[in-house]
Amino acid sequence: MEQREQFTTRLGFILAAAGSAIGLGAIWKFPYIAGQNGGGAFLIIFLIFTFILGLPLLLAEFTIGRTAQQDAVNSFKHIAPKTKWYGIGILGMVTCFILLSFYSVIGGWIIIYLIKAITGGLNGLSSQQYASVFEHTIANPVVSLSVQFIFILFTIFVVAKGVQKGIERASSIMMPALTILFIILVIRAITLDGAAGGISFLFQPDFSKVTSKTILEAMGQSFFTLSVGVSVMITYSSYLPKQQSLPKSAFSIVGMNIAIVLLAGLAIFPAVFSFGLAPDAGPVLLFHVLPTIFSQLPFGMVFFVAFLIVFLFAALTSAFSMLEIIVSVISKGEQAKRKKWAWIIGIAIFIFGVPSALSYSLLSDFTLFDKSFFDLADYTVSNILMPFGSLLIAVFVSVKMKKSALFEELKRGSKIKYSVFHVWFFLIRYIAPILIVAVMLDVLGVW
Ligand code: PHE
Repeated sequence: MEQREQFTTRLGFILAAAGSAIGLGAIWKFPYIAGQNGGGAFLIIFLIFTFILGLPLLLAEFTIGRTAQQDAVNSFKHIAPKTKWYGIGILGMVTCFILLSFYSVIGGWIIIYLIKAITGGLNGLSSQQYASVFEHTIANPVVSLSVQFIFILFTIFVVAKGVQKGIERASSIMMPALTILFIILVIRAITLDGAAGGISFLFQPDFSKVTSKTILEAMGQSFFTLSVGVSVMITYSSYLPKQQSLPKSAFSIVGMNIAIVLLAGLAIFPAVFSFGLAPDAGPVLLFHVLPTIFSQLPFGMVFFVAFLIVFLFAALTSAFSMLEIIVSVISKGEQAKRKKWAWIIGIAIFIFGVPSALSYSLLSDFTLFDKSFFDLADYTVSNILMPFGSLLIAVFVSVKMKKSALFEELKRGSKIKYSVFHVWFFLIRYIAPILIVAVMLDVLGVW
């Protein structure tokens, strides 16, 4: 049998898995969803879901992946042969397909700003002018489709080359750079006039605004930012050598992710309030605010370009993981097929994503269930498919894997105590299924 590629170090694995986790979810999506759901209360509910559902599920996917050491579909076939549980892997592939189709639209928006910032088209405007320049640009169908296509091309190139070579290398510089640039951004944002309004918006919870929709979106967001429920983390951990600690990796990924979520919130909301913009502006929020904050820094455009490069990188490392899980299943680990399928699937995703890209131009009046095409794709992935996939993974781990075998796998390379393992198992076996079903039914108005 062909030797599977492995990550050379735990750091390499963590960087790739963290690269998948940290992306548009924390930086773009969190501020806009929190902005639409009242701020502080959303943050608290999101953090609770991250600890009681996201983290345990991340660990569950790691355990499945390293036990089976196969791709998203074959991992389930390996652990539960002759059953239909591998459907979870297929669901993950379908979810990632839809996910990348709209994710690439936002990836394209980053490229738009990068081009504008480099060519000097963004100097000295007011925040309202930045917002209208941006609206104007994405209202051009040719521009939005071209940048979306470029984003997908980058993704295809890297995935066609293979996991280790493609992903491991650059992450070790980009993640620290992202953190440093964010810290600079936060310092500027919280020292703006009127920043206090944004800080209290983010940290003073107003639970009177919480509805069942808020709770579902906070849950969806906790899965989205950690890339759980779609078998991506199963695929990545299948490349991890046996002597590395899974709990440690899971904790560090959750920690980094929360840090970026908080930094993003602290950069965006003070600025939104200071500039008198609306926190509930939706998917465009981040893109309205960013250039104004940077324009108020010395050498602002230089920092803005640097920020956009690492932001683009963060979005790309997430995009790689979405395409990677589909391609690794279809190409069955063969290099020649990998290349071909990376192109075929990548182009198919682009075509499927065209209506999402056009949701801000030609199709801006088209709505289905009261949502634009873009919003519908995002909503379906984040609030239906990911929670459903997570539910199935929790059930799979509790009914199809032996408790003793789970403990064995989690103990490799780590000193996890039985009591801690027990808490994890309890969360996965009882809390996760009950809570996910309850939140989903709640939105349907069952109680
Ligand atoms: N976690 C990624 C982000 O926050 C999105 C993602 C979800 C990536 C699922 C892969 C799989 O941007």
